[in-house]
Amino acid sequence: MKALVLSGGKGTRLRPLTFTTAKQLIPIANKPILGYVLDPISNAGITDVGVIIAPETGQEVKNYVKDGSSWNIKVTYLLQEPLGLAHAVKTARNFLGDDDFIMYLGDNLIGKGVNALIEKFKNEDLAALILLKEVEDPTRFGIAVLDSKGNVVRVVEKPKNPPTNLALVGIYLFSPEIHKAIDKIKPSWRGELEITDAIQELINQGYKVKAEKLETWWLDTGKKDDILYANAKILDEYIKEEMCGEAQESKIEGRVSIQRGAKIINSTIRGPSIIGAECIIENSFIGPYTSIGNNTVIIDSSIEYSVILDNAFVKEIEKLEESLIGRNVRVIKNQKRNTLKLHTGDYSEVEI
Ligand code: TTP
Repeated sequence: MKALVLSGGKGTRLRPLTFTTAKQLIPIANKPILGYVLDPISNAGITDVGVIIAPETGQEVKNYVKDGSSWNIKVTYLLQEPLGLAHAVKTARNFLGDDDFIMYLGDNLIGKGVNALIEKFKNEDLAALILLKEVEDPTRFGIAVLDSKGNVVRVVEKPKNPPTNLALVGIYLFSPEIHKAIDKIKPSWRGELEITDAIQELINQGYKVKAEKLETWWLDTGKKDDILYANAKILDEYIKEEMCGEAQESKIEGRVSIQRGAKIINSTIRGPSIIGAECIIENSFIGPYTSIGNNTVIIDSSIEYSVILDNAFVKEIEKLEESLIGRNVRVIKNQKRNTLKLHTGDYSEVEI
């Protein structure tokens, strides 16, 4: 079995961050999302991994994953213009050959591994096995309809009148039959080759397509609020108390990880939170559910439920909440009352 990780795409919903960063490399609890995708693939014992990359962000993905040896995998990079999930599979046709494969969207996180899913796929001799999760707003997702035996009888992409609330999680198992199905489908109204259309084609041709319901959490990190939620969830699940920096006259409450060389001065850090390497936090209150990247400086401020990336500077901000702040950003108070001075990039969002 091979793996195909989709780390291309445009990431338009996460602009402006995605002008300079691949969406899959945005850190959650100071580790790139893609790391959380490669971990379960590696844990499942899969060694041959194709990574789809886009022209604009591919190099950055390569810089992070390198040859894959950190995960004990061998990586083949596959360059793709983002023309849909099924188009990504088409691009990987030579790499995949006639092998079964797991396709894993590079921005999807789930609360467990994929070993059991792979086992089921192999044991039941399926053309495809999809993973489903009940969602509150099925109009935003690919949705599946099952029969009483758990066979998938229909899949529809973002339906206006959803037949069920079972959304397709971005993790799929395919036999090589999928390639013939993809050859038969046409681009959708949004100009993309949809994987849901290819799965429907498999069903139409009489192949066995089954589903497994995911009982743990699923995070699809497409938008800002998804990143903040994923950050809270991952901090909650994974963060351990750790002190590799120094704290003076400060309170460290709960599970807080303070990385190498960070200095906490006259401040309170409430867990679960992580403070990156070489940060300076002075006269401030951080947390809970907050990740601060490396080399960031925070002075006379209070920050809660937020993700701040590397080299940011925050000074005299009384209450910063639910914020996602990019690298090298400065957020400071100006001394004139009732005046706002902004220098924001395209597609930035400022909420006053
Ligand atoms: P999406 O979230 O559907 O698309 P996107 O990343 O382009 O984001 P946006 O809608 O905000 O513009 O993609 C899901 C995952 O699949 C994501 O990790 C990117 C990847 N992908 C590809 O690798 N190739 C593609 O052609 C598409 C559409 C997505």
